[in-house]
Amino acid sequence: MEDKLRPIVEPLMDWYEKNRRDLPWRGTKDPYKVLVSEIMLQQTRVAAVLPYYARWMEELPDTEALAAVSEERLMKLWQGLGYYSRARNLKRAAERIVALGRFPDSREALLELPGVGDYTAGAVASIAFGRRVPAVDGNVLRVAARITGAAEDILDPAVRRRFRGWMEAVTPAEDPGGFNQALMDLGAMVCLPGASPDCARCPLAAVCEAKRLGQQAALPVRRKKAARRVEERTVYILLREGRTALRRREERGLLAGLWEFPGVPGALGEEEAGCPLAAWSLRPLEWRKKLEARHIFTHVEWRMTGYVLRVEGGGEELVWADRRELEALAVPSAFARFLEEARRALEEERG
Ligand code: ADE
Repeated sequence: MEDKLRPIVEPLMDWYEKNRRDLPWRGTKDPYKVLVSEIMLQQTRVAAVLPYYARWMEELPDTEALAAVSEERLMKLWQGLGYYSRARNLKRAAERIVALGRFPDSREALLELPGVGDYTAGAVASIAFGRRVPAVDGNVLRVAARITGAAEDILDPAVRRRFRGWMEAVTPAEDPGGFNQALMDLGAMVCLPGASPDCARCPLAAVCEAKRLGQQAALPVRRKKAARRVEERTVYILLREGRTALRRREERGLLAGLWEFPGVPGALGEEEAGCPLAAWSLRPLEWRKKLEARHIFTHVEWRMTGYVLRVEGGGEELVWADRRELEALAVPSAFARFLEEARRALEEERG
């Protein structure tokens, strides 16, 4: 299979030179910047990452700044990007690098950092340090599966290892970082998923097995994933004297340590929705609104029923934020619909 991939190097590099995307992390070999960009780009599109990357680099321009940042600021800078453990791991990696006194400069040494897997280690080692190692993500697997026509399940780890081996064999010694990014750009701009690859513009069409067989849409092969678990929740936007209630999520599990509107499991109807309030020492004064929202994570879908109400009372476990404090806290996108509602209610109350 390497033999099928070897002919891609030259046309791909020529294409990249003329068509590469001008991205803010591409003008640099600063390993810190490369690492942050690669972690942000995991599971997140380039367009979504751009504003986050710019804000991050303004506030945290180097490893030392990241190692020293507070948890609260860190979460705020990441708010909306999702998969928050990525940010926590980045900070832990920065602490480790500061303690080491130097940036790890090989694939193996990079793999020791928290949150750095095979793809990220390959990307940073090749882009920042010119190491001849592949960086195989979903885009690269798609390109490689189509070029070789290999109809194996790319979700199978053994298959991925095999693809990785082929890519390793063909990664050029000259500009391996450029080669890896050329594959990423081709996957993002031309060799698009599903039935929509733009083969007319592809520099590799002449050597593509999938194209020859008309199998572009069928490749790569992905085994069906297990269905997402559905969880129902009832969420409260509690209003008290120009403030709304938030609490911190547990330190473990989904959205660990982030702020949320208080809630309980289950979809409570209007008759039962008042019951959980007593546990927070609250009494309802005025029920204002009921709303629905959904949020889809990788393995879980939340179906949320929300209630907006004015209350009195309140115990220890809730924090009451005014409009300004609400903006300063990291509330994840899963609660975006409720955040919007809370902002509006606080504005109205202020009149
Ligand atoms: N996706 C992941 N890493 C990337 C990079 N360095 N350039 C463009 N897209 C990417």
